[in-house]
Amino acid sequence: MKKKIAVIEGDGIGPEVTKQSINVLNAIAGAFDHEFTYQYCLMGADAIDKTGSPLPDETVAVCLESDAILFGAIGHPKYDNDPTAKVRPEQGLLKLRKSLQLYANIRPVTTYTALQHLSPLKSKSLEGVDFVIFRELTGGIYFGKKELSEDGTRASDDCVYTRAEIERIAVPAFQYAQKRRKKLTLVDKANVLETSRLWRKVVQETAAQFPDVAVDYMFVDNAAMQIILNPKQFDVILTENMFGDIISDEASVLSGSLGLLPSASVGSAVALFEPIHGSYPQAAGKDIANPLGSILSAAMLLDHFEMKEEANLVREAVNWTLQNAFVTKDIDPVNFYFTSTIGELISDYVSGKIPGSVKKENIELRKSTII
Ligand code: IPM
Ligand code: MN
Repeated sequence: MKKKIAVIEGDGIGPEVTKQSINVLNAIAGAFDHEFTYQYCLMGADAIDKTGSPLPDETVAVCLESDAILFGAIGHPKYDNDPTAKVRPEQGLLKLRKSLQLYANIRPVTTYTALQHLSPLKSKSLEGVDFVIFRELTGGIYFGKKELSEDGTRASDDCVYTRAEIERIAVPAFQYAQKRRKKLTLVDKANVLETSRLWRKVVQETAAQFPDVAVDYMFVDNAAMQIILNPKQFDVILTENMFGDIISDEASVLSGSLGLLPSASVGSAVALFEPIHGSYPQAAGKDIANPLGSILSAAMLLDHFEMKEEANLVREAVNWTLQNAFVTKDIDPVNFYFTSTIGELISDYVSGKIPGSVKKENIELRKSTII
């Protein structure tokens, strides 16, 4: 199959983790006789430096004519520490989500037996945790009217949702639950917020079309607690933009590292795939970032192309690295391997270059000696 992929490396560790994903995609193309072509475009702090805009028009145009978008990370500390900055890298990502109408952000949360010791939670509560967060991505407080009074003493952000915006993500979330353990939890704050009450109403109505899916409703403060106390109870979590942002970072703790979690943002046109982690500027250029969030996002991209076998092979390769303790510094701060080594191992696995018993001593040579 021939596919055109728009690549936005973005900021911080974005370029180095994305590079590994491209290598893995190329290995898949080689092994399965596909042809992937890549068009690189700018977004974020990198784009501001080069063009003055966090999202040049050309990037949107390239994305629209691609079959999928692979994105790295966004953000730079020089903007975080300057609340008066008029132009911010994150505006690029928000505008891209809006321009492409990427309204559903899908974030699977998986736990790995080999990594359970890394989670601050007890292993017994992590066994078998497997849920997916459906986060609404183009509405709510992120996109409502923003105001700052002239004297700078009053600020507001509106949170707005329409029935149509809720319905268009609720339906795929229910469909997803139907293919899984048939349970959907709506996370909201309906005891306080009018928007949450609308979410509840629309979700209750949508539920009628999916009688085989059990629905429950949970306030976001309780959900934040339940994700830690009893994460196994969740199958599909459906929630609005801001709550989804917060609980997905929280949920990453279950996996052991934020660096492991992938995501897909889908809408009416082209879909975008990105790790949920940020730009991690402290690690940029050091070859120490975890590329698995990006590589697993590339696996979701393959799923999206309906290349199931290919996607599963990438996931199998990722599991193989974890089981053999080929991990980056976020996972093992002493015996760690570099970003590029992990990427190469996964590409080699995909290409069938790793024999049954890997020559560990060769890989050991590439292990870090920095303690
Ligand atoms: C995410 C990020 C973004 C968000 C930022 C970078 C705007 O945290 O994708 O979760 O808040 O949506
Ligand atoms: Mn976030």
